[in-house]
Amino acid sequence: MIKLAIHKKQNSFSDRWISYCDSNKISYKIVNCYDSNIMSDLNDVNALLWHWAHHEPEGQLVARQIISAIEKMGIVVFPNINTCWHYDDKIAQKYLLESINAPIVPSHVFLIKDEAIQFIEKAQYPLVFKLRCGAGSQNVQLVKNKYEAKKLCRKAFSKGFLAAKGYFADAKTKVRNIPNIEAFIGKMKRFPRSVKNIISNRRLLSVQKGYLYFQDFIANNQYDTRITVIGDRAFGFLRKVRPGDFRASGSGQILYDNDKIDMRCVEIAFDVSKKLNTQSLSFDFIFDSENEPKICEISYCYQSKAVHDCPGNWDHKLNWNKGHMWPEDAILLEVLRLISES
Ligand SMILES: Nc1ncnc2c1ncn2[C@@H]1O[C@H](COP(=O)(O)OP(=O)(O)O)[C@@H](O)[C@H]1O
Ligand SMILES: [Mg+2]
Repeated sequence: MIKLAIHKKQNSFSDRWISYCDSNKISYKIVNCYDSNIMSDLNDVNALLWHWAHHEPEGQLVARQIISAIEKMGIVVFPNINTCWHYDDKIAQKYLLESINAPIVPSHVFLIKDEAIQFIEKAQYPLVFKLRCGAGSQNVQLVKNKYEAKKLCRKAFSKGFLAAKGYFADAKTKVRNIPNIEAFIGKMKRFPRSVKNIISNRRLLSVQKGYLYFQDFIANNQYDTRITVIGDRAFGFLRKVRPGDFRASGSGQILYDNDKIDMRCVEIAFDVSKKLNTQSLSFDFIFDSENEPKICEISYCYQSKAVHDCPGNWDHKLNWNKGHMWPEDAILLEVLRLISES
């Protein structure tokens, strides 16, 4: 009989995995992947499901290494290392996507200050500056000229940047997205805990320094196209940019309109997922001046409700399957399929 191991973390994908297993009578046990005995705890299971996130300092420190080790046990792991080694690491994504000739926004990485300065002197502006890590556009900014670029360069090669912003960063967007008074009260109740977590994470996550990362600025995009590929399913929606800004990620303005989804994005997302052997990956596309879709970022973590609310999904032949589906369920079905193949 099949038995799964699930790393339980409240408000992560594990909530749904556990309830799915309970209602479908799938045998499972709860494990803690940060426990020193995790390898022996996995001796009697066929697969492990673990949804580790970028803002967990312990995950950033050891999740990739633990997952690489678990794969050697011959069990199915979600996320497999192909799915997550580049997670929350835009530098890794640049090299990875270039290696398979995937269409990406032209990206420039410098690890030597003098080489960065030479680039800054000759570059076309504006450019987009990014830290390798972060989400919700927190660590992404427009650089208007070489003086701004040099300032960032000095900081990058001296004291560096904190990996996470404070609680009040992007406050306008957060306030705009509070749907009602109940949500506001909930936010206020969680305020002390949220601030404590952010302060602790800011202390523990590595300071970002010793590199400089720029992308060419792709102007005039009103929204990102977000495609999420899980096994043989692709979900698609659009995310509008913030008013008066160029950044969509974290805007909370989601649009479900298949007529506005360029099917080239779905094809590219399936193609890249296949080449990389990933189990679940979201892709953000923007369109360049020739209207060619370019990948801006990939990530195995995403908001599950946004994917669930898609009206359906495509398979790799672009057949449309109507109906909502939780991505956690799609992942679990994919894991069961992989077990049956192993
Ligand atoms: N090179 C670029 N040109 C134009 N817009 C960009 C570029 N890179 C990112 N953006 C916009 O900024 C947003 C945040 O960038 P992204 O790299 O996805 O960071 P995050 O990891 O915070 O989501 C994207 O959703 C996109 O709308
Ligand atoms: Mg993004």
